[in-house]
Amino acid sequence: MAALLRAPKFLALLVTIACTCVPVSLALTRMTAISVNGGPFITNSTRLPPNTSPVTDVTSPNIACNVGGTTPAPAVTVISAGSNLTALWIPDTHVGPNIVYVAKVTGNILTTTNLQGLRWIKARIVDPTKGPTPGGWSAPLPNGEYSFLIPTRLACGQYFLRIESIGFHAASSIGGAQFFLSCVQIDITGGGGGYPVGTGILLPGGYTGTDPGIVFNPYTTPYPTSYPFPGGPTWPDGKRMFSSLY
Ligand SMILES: *[C@@H]1O[C@H](CO)[C@@H](O)[C@H](O)[C@H]1NC(C)=O
Ligand SMILES: *[C@@H]1O[C@H](CO)[C@@H](O)[C@H](O)[C@H]1NC(C)=O
Repeated sequence: MAALLRAPKFLALLVTIACTCVPVSLALTRMTAISVNGGPFITNSTRLPPNTSPVTDVTSPNIACNVGGTTPAPAVTVISAGSNLTALWIPDTHVGPNIVYVAKVTGNILTTTNLQGLRWIKARIVDPTKGPTPGGWSAPLPNGEYSFLIPTRLACGQYFLRIESIGFHAASSIGGAQFFLSCVQIDITGGGGGYPVGTGILLPGGYTGTDPGIVFNPYTTPYPTSYPFPGGPTWPDGKRMFSSLY
């Protein structure tokens, strides 16, 4: 009887939680697959997170390759340097920046389970303040996709490609930024031999909760016109290099 009497309260609580969560969960996402030079999407080289929830603690080991990111995916996708890659986000990215990092792997990426000590080099960015409209903020993407060119200078070998979208809808306070990311196992062929050995950030380590690019309010009036990317310099030429975005 006591349990029955408590039940409505419990249900009411559930309903409250469900209602509170709806707008947030609609916005969750994950990077699921890549396409090379317009080919079919390949899913089996992505270390797929178990769900669409973000990482919010930049000091967590999950900031490297998300939850489950130490578990290898079954395949390595072979990619010629200079190829045009398309990342597929389901359902879509957020208001906020998009960043692609590469980290060279020593040994076989298919058996790499320890991500500590990898150096993550920021190679590609989408500047959220340079959208087609002021405050366009790079979301949503057309079909949840964006494309970028693998640097022709990148040395041959196996890499993690860390594809990240930072959700900024709550990022005006510390701990509010939401990090959506997946790591893809790739093998670069025909590369230009370039690699900035000894540079790049550690993850965790390279992001702090108070970075000006992590505590950031995208909703000011007028809209922000520049964005201080976290994660160190962009290699190899410091430019925004997405082929089809801003
Ligand atoms: C890269 O691929 C996308 C998707 O197929 C395409 O829209 C874009 O034009 C391509 N960019 C370049 C520079 O080839
Ligand atoms: C991975 O998927 C591709 C097609 O998307 C397929 O050609 C390849 O054989 C798969 N590799 C493994 C190890 O499952």
